[in-house]
Amino acid sequence: MPAVPQKHIVIGRWQSYHGNTIGSLSAGGDVKRRHAYTPNLLNYAHVYSPYCHRCPYDRQKDDCLSKQNWACVTDIERTILELGPENVSAFIAEPIVGSQQGAVPPPPGYFGKVRELCDRYEILLIIDEVMTGFGRTGTNFATEQIGITPDIITFGKGVSAGYAPLAGMIVHDRLIDGLIQNSDGKFIHGYTYSGHPVAVAAGLAALDVYERDMVLENVKKQGPYLFKRLLELKQKHSNISDVRGKGLLIGMELVKDHDQDLLFDPAEKAAEKLNGIAMELGAVFYPGSGSIDGVKGEHLIVSPPLNVTKSEIDEIVRILDESFTIFHHQLRKDELYESTK
Ligand SMILES: Cc1ncc(COP(=O)(O)O)c(C=O)c1O
Repeated sequence: MPAVPQKHIVIGRWQSYHGNTIGSLSAGGDVKRRHAYTPNLLNYAHVYSPYCHRCPYDRQKDDCLSKQNWACVTDIERTILELGPENVSAFIAEPIVGSQQGAVPPPPGYFGKVRELCDRYEILLIIDEVMTGFGRTGTNFATEQIGITPDIITFGKGVSAGYAPLAGMIVHDRLIDGLIQNSDGKFIHGYTYSGHPVAVAAGLAALDVYERDMVLENVKKQGPYLFKRLLELKQKHSNISDVRGKGLLIGMELVKDHDQDLLFDPAEKAAEKLNGIAMELGAVFYPGSGSIDGVKGEHLIVSPPLNVTKSEIDEIVRILDESFTIFHHQLRKDELYESTK
């Protein structure tokens, strides 16, 4: 047996999600999902991701961009050095933070700097494209637009368009020899249904349809339209403080009052309530909470099917518009009730 590798610590980011196995939960930073498993989690490290709308490092985005001095990157280097680069195997990140932060894209340049750090300290860069992969942002992978080459890409969801449970990873050529050598010629990491032919056939069929129907072109066309329509809602509704995202993965940060930057109390379950109203009206969104620090911060993700049409987007936005109006009135009613108690 080869020696147990010394490089064993993965650095992940808070408010990120990579899955529910002990390994992926340990690398991820979803505070609520991790909680019940706390004693079982691996001793991985975490930094904050660049959530520039509310920088966890209290920096101003323009300042970081102009000076090219980023606390969120410096913190990765500090963490690597504290742990010892000889102990760190990988840095893992979602290119656009999905479920935990509500579709937050990185500021331009961030991942280039992360790539440099990983190269400097011989650390693998794992990009989790489970949510973004296979067209959601308008290209097969979001990293294509970010302009970096990861060492490993993980993917799922979009690869089979949800028609069969299928996920996988893409590993850079330069890692293959080492993997084979250190696994006695085999990659010993199988599951009963790994590479299941039915799931793989569904994946291939989905990718054929994406190509035949030029689905990625549709995402490139409809994404900016949806974004523009959601920005209009932000102008109109004081409960929206930010609209962000890429392609057909767009998030809205929800607040009690935009002008005063008043956050919701997590107990109010604002995003869930808003989504409940929308469901009554005929559309389902993806509500989330804890986007700021694992507890505070409410958001709603708008991520329609990749073949959505312009008129369907209009209908989605109409329902969302009405939902925000009802939501706002309910809040006002609750406040009035509280003030008369
Ligand atoms: C970004 C991201 N990574 C990983 C996962 C986990 O995928 P799975 O549930 O297939 O393990 C998810 C699931 O939602 C996800 O959104």
